Amino acid sequence: MDLKEYIASIKDFPKEGILFRDITPLMLDGKAYKFACDQMIEYAKEVKATVIVGPEARGFIFGCPVAYALELGFAPVRKPGKLPRETVTVKYDLEYGSNELSMHKDAIKKGDRVLIVDDLLATGGTVDATIKLIEKLGGTVVGAAFFIELEALEGRKLLEGYDVFASLKY
Ligand code: PRP
Ligand code: ADE
Repeated sequence: MDLKEYIASIKDFPKEGILFRDITPLMLDGKAYKFACDQMIEYAKEVKATVIVGPEARGFIFGCPVAYALELGFAPVRKPGKLPRETVTVKYDLEYGSNELSMHKDAIKKGDRVLIVDDLLATGGTVDATIKLIEKLGGTVVGAAFFIELEALEGRKLLEGYDVFASLKY
């Protein structure tokens, strides 16, 4: 299955100069969506993940099906003011802006083998911040799985030393 057929590319969204890779056509096709999730599920098995972490919002789209399929827990990484209990927080830069990310302090236990799942790797800022949160909480990051990698933005360089999986590359 050529999964690139299910990605829409939109020029100058959300800002001039950005070529936005839209995964919503893939999500609308049940077979293609399952095929994409299945690849991440296989990777999660290979790295022997014991918990899945996904950044808001698009990380939930792939992270939750992976967790469900393998009967693993899922811990959300969220933007400020969304998590109701005690959190850890870090600042990060995006291809089009900057933000903060938080996790609940009790989301990760020492010794957890954490797989980070997100829809897309661009600069790597989101996942780099997510790694910092997980490691602050005593977890071991065993890999990061993306549906799409934008190679020109060199996110992999920022994630050097960590195992990175991506289904599609642009
Ligand atoms: C997008 C995308 C990744 C991140 C990738 O999320 O879903 O999480 O950007 O960019 P990076 O590698 O440069 O960090 P965004 O912050 O736009 O939020 P959303 O998922 O809520 O749309
Ligand atoms: N997140 C960061 N950069 C992106 C892009 N070019 N397309 C879709 N999501 C993104």
